[in-house]
Amino acid sequence: MPPDLQLAYLGLEVPEPDSLAPFFGEVIGLVPGAPTADGSATWRDDERVHRLLVGAGPANDAVCIGVEAADAAAFTAYADRLRAAGFDPVEGTDDERSARQVDGLVHVDAPFGVRVELVHGLAVADEPFAAPLMPGGFLTEDVGFGHVVIATMAFDESHDFVTRGLGMEQSDWLEMEIAEGIVLEVRFYHCNARHHSLALARAPFEMPQKLHHVMFETNSRDDVGAAFDRAWATELPIPNGLGRHDNDGMFSFYVGSPAGFQVEVGHGARVVGDDWDDNRRYERISAWGHQPLRAG
Ligand SMILES: [Fe+2]
Repeated sequence: MPPDLQLAYLGLEVPEPDSLAPFFGEVIGLVPGAPTADGSATWRDDERVHRLLVGAGPANDAVCIGVEAADAAAFTAYADRLRAAGFDPVEGTDDERSARQVDGLVHVDAPFGVRVELVHGLAVADEPFAAPLMPGGFLTEDVGFGHVVIATMAFDESHDFVTRGLGMEQSDWLEMEIAEGIVLEVRFYHCNARHHSLALARAPFEMPQKLHHVMFETNSRDDVGAAFDRAWATELPIPNGLGRHDNDGMFSFYVGSPAGFQVEVGHGARVVGDDWDDNRRYERISAWGHQPLRAG
């Protein structure tokens, strides 16, 4: 499939954005970007101007997900698609476009309670990208900055929004009994070669945070190990130690951020091509590992 859609950025809102700086910078290995015109701190994982936006506020959660169309024509086509599907996109203001550093922006309130911004032309930073703690760099070319996993009680409506509205396709799904009578259901969606740019988990009740985790993929397997060592050296929760996912095959670990949501650092996931025909149910999260290592 043509890589005409990819994740542009994730917007977070936390009471004290500065409190996340050591976590993103010194544990995960992201690179600080310049603050946005509306005052958010930013983080980069490639040449783009920003990939995480961290604003100050009470939400303590994800507040927007930027989805980037490859060019102005694709942007118009996706906006038309949203409109035709009944999700009325609202034109962004000049201030919003300038804060996001994009050429075009429309936004929709997704059923899962996070604003989705369809954009095009996310700027490249003046400063070249170099991440001292991630010497191999992050895998982002044509696949966006990573992936985002959202837990929602509005699961079926959200599935409809992601597939019929945004035009993403389901890669596969996980359905497993995690305790007597409690089934975990997660659906994984692709819009380019990344196995999933977005996944939705069916929440049995309103969760304290919609954002379960955000994932950054490294080019080098050793960079995952080094990031694990940095996380282990903190007192942060390690909900899942090193392991390999069954469906996307990613080698990764999860660390709890000081704000609660988790960050997955991974490497070596399967890629999805036009010939993807493996949309099937998985009954286990991991082929091996991902053991809970340390509570918060
Ligand atoms: Fe993940």
